[in-house]
Amino acid sequence: MKVIGVSGSPIKNSNTDRALQAVLKATGLQTEFVKLLDYIVAPCRACLGCVKTNRCVIKDDGIMLTEKVRQADALVVAGFTPYSTLDSRTKAFIERLYPLRHNHGYMAGKPGGAVITSCVPETRDMLPPASQMGINGIQFYMMEEGMNFVGAVKVQGNVPCVRCGFGDQCRVSGLKMMFGQDASVDSVGIKEFEKQPVAVDAAKELGMKIAQALKT
Ligand SMILES: Cc1cc2nc3c(=O)[nH]c(=O)nc-3n(C[C@H](O)[C@H](O)[C@H](O)COP(=O)(O)O)c2cc1C
Repeated sequence: MKVIGVSGSPIKNSNTDRALQAVLKATGLQTEFVKLLDYIVAPCRACLGCVKTNRCVIKDDGIMLTEKVRQADALVVAGFTPYSTLDSRTKAFIERLYPLRHNHGYMAGKPGGAVITSCVPETRDMLPPASQMGINGIQFYMMEEGMNFVGAVKVQGNVPCVRCGFGDQCRVSGLKMMFGQDASVDSVGIKEFEKQPVAVDAAKELGMKIAQALKT
């Protein structure tokens, strides 16, 4: 049994990557971690050129990655939420899995899961529901392909304004928007997946659920 995990986070060794790796480890199975930044994957052209062949007509790394996903027994997709929805790299990858649909339904019945890193605090209900939007982008793909979506991990990520150097003076700083008028670079600080017990537990649980689903 093999579980493939695909991360759309462009940041090196990001929270998203590490949370996904924790999910894969918790499966106790053979796994493969894919960082989409290492590949070129254009979005789907909706040309339906894949219908008869189950193979995309776009000659980039999407073809090879799609074949890896077809051969895997389970899929975990990880992304982040620029402008409160699933990031475009992860979304393009998901669209390019369309060739696995026609006639065969190659993904149907396979267990799947999602990891989403966002920086909107869950407690601030006046802000867009970024993490849920990200999860929806992955979960609805899995539902529409007849997969068995077993769960999601929400990770608190870093507001870019903490690192940009202007977070305390910028007129449109995300710090104040997300954490309130008194927020500063120092008070918000750097968020790390490993220091978020709820997320760490959720990652372990998702990995174990995927392994369990593959057994039954
Ligand atoms: C262009 C851009 C826009 C962003 N907008 C949002 C946003 O609207 N909501 C949000 O939760 N995070 C937003 N973020 C922050 C990302 O969610 C954050 O960088 C992510 O948590 C980083 O995760 P990573 O370290 O795993 O890559 C944005 C980031 C970028 C680069």
